Amino acid sequence: MDVNLTGRRALVTGSSSGLGEAIARLLATEGADVVVHGRDVVRARTVAADIGAVAVAIGDLATDEGADAVAATAGEVDILVNNAGTYDHSGWDDATPQVWVRTYEVNVVSGVRMIRRLVPGMRERGWGRVIQIGGGLSSQPTPMLPHYSASLAARHNLAVSLARELKGTGVTSNVVSPGAILVDSVERFLTEMAPERGWGESWEEIERNAARDFVPNDFGRFGRPEEIAGAVVYLASPYADYVSGATIRVDGGTIRSVI
Ligand SMILES: NC(=O)c1ccc[n+]([C@@H]2O[C@H](COP(=O)([O-])OP(=O)(O)OC[C@H]3O[C@@H](n4cnc5c(N)ncnc54)[C@H](OP(=O)(O)O)[C@@H]3O)[C@@H](O)[C@H]2O)c1
Repeated sequence: MDVNLTGRRALVTGSSSGLGEAIARLLATEGADVVVHGRDVVRARTVAADIGAVAVAIGDLATDEGADAVAATAGEVDILVNNAGTYDHSGWDDATPQVWVRTYEVNVVSGVRMIRRLVPGMRERGWGRVIQIGGGLSSQPTPMLPHYSASLAARHNLAVSLARELKGTGVTSNVVSPGAILVDSVERFLTEMAPERGWGESWEEIERNAARDFVPNDFGRFGRPEEIAGAVVYLASPYADYVSGATIRVDGGTIRSVI
C-alpha cells in the first residue's frame, strides 16, 4: 500500500530516541522528507544518518529560542509530530509544584510552540497534519506520575481544540495515544525493578510479569515503538483526510473505556 507521503516534509520532535525515532524511521521509509529533532546532537545526527533524514534540528523546546531554532531548520513542514517529552517516576510526595510546572513546559507548551510556528504555513498551503503523542494515563491515571498524566491529558485536550480551530483549512489535528511502550529507558527501569518484585531472570519473564502488574492488557506485553509509528503514518496519510480531533489508542486494550 502506498500511503502517499512522497514529497511531504515531516518534523518529528524528540526523534533522537524512543518513539520519535521509530516514527521518524517509518515516515522516511514511506517516502516523507523527515527532519530529525533532539537536544543531544550526537544522538540526533546518528538517527538522521541511519534513516536518511533530510535535516537535523537541534533545540530545547522548553524555550522560545530553542523552538525558533528548530522551526528555522525545519522549514516548510507539512507534518508536525509533537512527540518530545519527559517523564520520571515521581508520585505525589516527590512531584513538587516546580516539577509540575517544568513537566507542563516540556510536555505541553513545547508542542504549542511548534504549532504556533508551523501551522500558519500549513494553513496557507491548504494541507497539513498535526499529530500529538498522548497517552493512556490521560484518561486512566494512577497514583504515580500525577504531573505527567495531567500533561498527557492537556495534549489530548488541545489537539481537539486545534482540530476545531482548523476546520475547513485542509489541516487536521489528531492524537496517537500509546499504552506503555518498550523504549530503552522503560526496559532499564523494569529490569532494575525485577529482583525486588520477583519477576524472574529472563527478559521474557520480566516483561510478562511487569505487564501483568503495571499495564494489564489483552496481549500480556508492552507495546513496541513501531506500533505507534504505524498509527502516526496512517494519520499523516491522505487515508485520514476525514479524521480530525480523533484519538487512536495503541495500547493493546489497556484502556477499557468504550469512548
Ligand atoms: N514510552 C512510553 O511508554 C510512552 C507512553 C505514552 C506516551 N509517551 C510519550 O512519547 C514521547 C516519547 O517518549 P519516549 O518513551 O520515546 O522517551 P525518550 O526515549 O526519552 O525520548 C524523548 C525524546 O524527547 C526529547 N526531549 C525531551 N525533552 C526535551 C526538550 N525539553 N526539548 C526538546 N526535546 C526534548 C528527547 O531529546 P534528547 O534526548 O535529544 O534531549 C528525546 O528525543 C514522550 O512525549 C512521552 O510522553 C511515551
